[in-house]
Amino acid sequence: RAHFLAASDLNPYVVPQLLDLGDAFVDFNRQSSKALDVLHGRTVVNLFFENSTRTSSSFEIAAKRLGADVVTMPVASSSVKKGETLIDTAVTLNAMKPDILVVRHSASGAAELLSQKVGCAVVNAGDGRHEHPTQALLDLLSMRRALGDVTSLTIAICGDITHSRVARSNVALLQMMGARVRLIGPPTLVPGDADRWGCEVFHDMREGLAGCDVVMMLRLQLERMAGALVPSTREYFRFWGLDREKLAWANEGAKVMHPGPMNRGVEIDSDVADDLDVSLIQDQVEMGVAARMAVLASLSARWGDAA
Ligand code: CP
Repeated sequence: RAHFLAASDLNPYVVPQLLDLGDAFVDFNRQSSKALDVLHGRTVVNLFFENSTRTSSSFEIAAKRLGADVVTMPVASSSVKKGETLIDTAVTLNAMKPDILVVRHSASGAAELLSQKVGCAVVNAGDGRHEHPTQALLDLLSMRRALGDVTSLTIAICGDITHSRVARSNVALLQMMGARVRLIGPPTLVPGDADRWGCEVFHDMREGLAGCDVVMMLRLQLERMAGALVPSTREYFRFWGLDREKLAWANEGAKVMHPGPMNRGVEIDSDVADDLDVSLIQDQVEMGVAARMAVLASLSARWGDAA
């Protein structure tokens, strides 16, 4: 079985194909409310051990638009709460013969581990601070639609880089596709080895944003910071929160992105987030359905009739 586990597993030949497929699904979704039959007779199970609004619902919609039967496991009321492990849960679901398992878990490497234990395709919907590959794909689709070829773009990823799987997947995918990527954040929230990621690292928003075409803001992931010293949210916003004044340091026409969920007034000001002339945040949500349709359809295309 083919899986979809990490942006770093992709290559510069397959990514444009996924983006083209994503574009076609955007058009389809805008024109039709009917389902396709790409996944007719297939079963997709959503297994989210961490909270989600966008990823979980968009995978469900994407699978249904492709004609699949979809089961979204309510983990909070499942036997996980009686002590069943991640692997036992996945192996149990696997015995019911799903075709695709979409999994989110707080442990880095969880999706890859499951892919070794089950017979179905596994899609990583976010594993700890490791990877969130479909987020990077939908972000790239949003950028390409708004700004064209990304090889000419400089993209700033700003804020809590250390705890961000979105940052890691975006760095991998954007660099693979020839974009320049900068990381901007307080020294305490940028990993010590970030200079080995092939990105320029800045600890000053004015310096880092100069010359950028895209400003991607990240949430402070307080749930992954047990015991860490974090500034007050007011202090954080003053230095690192994106508002009009800081956005003006980037290139004219620069676009603002955020994977969500946003903490308004912490890492981003509502004035910027809600300005549809600069903000791609709602486009990212729409592209999430199309990009996930592209991923699910591309997996099914590799099964052949014998699957
Ligand atoms: N961007 C993202 O993963 O959002 P959710 O946590 O709501 O799925």
